[in-house]
Amino acid sequence: MARIAYVNGRYLNLAEAAVNIEDRGYQFGDGIYEVFFAYRGRLIDEALHFARLERSRQKIGLEAPMGEAALRVVMHELMRRNRVETGLVYLQLTRGVARRDHAFPSPPPRPALTLTVRPKPEPPEELSSWGAAAITLPDQRWGRCDIKSVNLLPNVLAREAAKQAGALEAILFDEAGVVTEGASSSVWIVGADNILRTRALDQHVLPGCTRAALLGDVAAEGMDFREEGFSLEALRGAREVFITSATSFVKPITRLDGLPVGNGAPGLLASRLYARYLARLKEG
Ligand SMILES: Cc1ncc(COP(=O)(O)O)c(C=O)c1O
Repeated sequence: MARIAYVNGRYLNLAEAAVNIEDRGYQFGDGIYEVFFAYRGRLIDEALHFARLERSRQKIGLEAPMGEAALRVVMHELMRRNRVETGLVYLQLTRGVARRDHAFPSPPPRPALTLTVRPKPEPPEELSSWGAAAITLPDQRWGRCDIKSVNLLPNVLAREAAKQAGALEAILFDEAGVVTEGASSSVWIVGADNILRTRALDQHVLPGCTRAALLGDVAAEGMDFREEGFSLEALRGAREVFITSATSFVKPITRLDGLPVGNGAPGLLASRLYARYLARLKEG
């Protein structure tokens, strides 16, 4: 079936969907994006994703191309036209088309809004055979990783390095040896002290929507939890490591830099949190 994209007000076959060569997203990476997981026609954690989109938009001084309600209509229409009920909705918003010049164009051009959808298999019923490998790498990104900007070259290079090493994700660490996040995920560990940790939010990490949603599950499970950073050493000595994102849900990392994490199988806390995540998906 032909895939349909949304491009600045029009629904087009993907083969014909194109943006102007002078679009500032293409020229400068002057834009932001969001990725939503749709499960059986529902956008998961949608309020969190819309709120982050709004924050990213304001932080780079972009005009809103349309209100949230209209955006929702477009997203559902695009899913309908693509006959996708469970999948990923990718949304990109750039500063639009203008003669190439670094500073913001004046007057501001119309922001360019594009969306695509693709199907994704339903999440597995449980995690037992769902472990993945990760590698660790220095974080070479910029100082405003809290903005979901389309400038992803360091993330792309990190993920390629992971792929070359036969791993799924690259877990990044800063110059002080403190873990920031994955190339496209939030990172959690259960330490040797049995405490669950994920780094507190600051400008060096993206505020993950799955992370935010999971904090409620952590509280509901009464887990021993601290929102604080942890070192590469703590990551390497962890009993459990898992990542979260709209695309990877709750994914155990069972091998790190070629060595097993804990006993090499998905851990108990990740499994409990995944069960809650799945229940939320199904209950709506
Ligand atoms: C750098 C980075 N951190 C964290 C996440 C997880 O965010 P979310 O749970 O909203 O998908 C992503 C998702 O793409 C990401 O790219």
